[in-house]
Amino acid sequence: MLSKADNELMCRVEGDQPMGIFLRRFWMPACLLDEIPSPGEGPVRVNLVGERLVAWRNAEGRVGLMSEVCPHRGVSLMLARDEGDGLRCIYHGWKIDVAGHVCEMPGEPKDSRMCGRVNNTTYPCVEAGGLLWAYLGPGEPPPLPRFPWMDLPPTHYVVRKTLYNVNFVQSLEGSLDSAHSDFLHSAETSASGDYDQDQVHSDGRRSRPSTDTSPEIDVRETEFGFIYGAIRKAVADPEKLAYVRATAYALPFYSMIPPVYMQASVPLDSENTAMYLVWYDNEHPLSPVEVKAHETFLGLRMGEDLLPDYRRPGRADNRWFQDREGIKAGKTYTGLYGTTMQDIAVQESMGPIQDRTIEHLGMTDKAIVHMRRMLLATARQIRDGKEPEIPALNSDYSQVRSAAATINRDDDWWEKLYGAAATASLGKAV
Ligand code: FES
Ligand SMILES: [Fe+2]
Repeated sequence: MLSKADNELMCRVEGDQPMGIFLRRFWMPACLLDEIPSPGEGPVRVNLVGERLVAWRNAEGRVGLMSEVCPHRGVSLMLARDEGDGLRCIYHGWKIDVAGHVCEMPGEPKDSRMCGRVNNTTYPCVEAGGLLWAYLGPGEPPPLPRFPWMDLPPTHYVVRKTLYNVNFVQSLEGSLDSAHSDFLHSAETSASGDYDQDQVHSDGRRSRPSTDTSPEIDVRETEFGFIYGAIRKAVADPEKLAYVRATAYALPFYSMIPPVYMQASVPLDSENTAMYLVWYDNEHPLSPVEVKAHETFLGLRMGEDLLPDYRRPGRADNRWFQDREGIKAGKTYTGLYGTTMQDIAVQESMGPIQDRTIEHLGMTDKAIVHMRRMLLATARQIRDGKEPEIPALNSDYSQVRSAAATINRDDDWWEKLYGAAATASLGKAV
């Protein structure tokens, strides 16, 4: 349970809200690279922490990220003409280059010194791992986080996007909540003693070597955030064996979930989140069959599950198309199809910002509580006018890894799953 004031402090990101100031210290995914039109085709809208921006690629192939608001009198640059070497506002013809300089003001006198002195707000941006990354903070940006998939060839990973009509913490809490998978995603998961790790099959279903719905949650702090183990009795020998799913939380809004799903809950504003999902394979290029299996499991098939605007046909006013007949017939546990659709429905049903003053947290919510404490500790520093300490800004994000295995109950899951990395630097138990 949180006080109303803490809930607001944790969730509000616009303007000079402390959480927004905190998030701006990090590089953030701004959009998929696939969303940025080719040169000459105009910009794409980018919303981040309540700021209205556009991204576009100029004729030289360079991507610019700048305010959507024309610095003359505020017309949206989403309407601008794309002239290759600049975006020209259609209201009075001001032209703005990729660095944000207003390089033409055709309405001003020829000898006016105004042209060249006005700039649009721009932000540093970098293309990496299928995403455009943006830095909206003060001073020099920190190093770009190098998640494990970002240095792989593009054939080894897939990046998808979907929009949630909820605050980013609500969506992040779903990513750090192992216990919900035994219910919300139970139709996609079948228990089996045959598998050491969970596998996604070609029909989009997944096997899990446990039927235990009451996982013990054990949190180990790391420099980038924490890794928690969800420890369940294993089907093969419930007394002696444990099935452990280890999920990493990396500040400020990333999770890495077994087997290899990265989820980034990026706040567009306080009530809307872009969820970027990445899955990858270190060893092999992903085959079309594998990609299809993951897309089916996740409910991320473009054109089938997802509309072109990255939203879904199912939403609050049609009760997310919940299939009650299917529930009665025993065809589905939730009446919702695809894990992301299930996540969206439950999260949006809480309202855009959950009222955390009336919740009742249990033992399976330990990782969520820990994440909230971390976010709130820094937000309070900023609110109180202190320079926040954020060690994660310089930490090694290639260590943000998930893992899953069946181990002996007496073994330390942390050492078993993370080996040398566990003993070297990470994993203060809390
Ligand atoms: S508002 Fe854009 S040029 Fe006037
Ligand atoms: Fe989920």
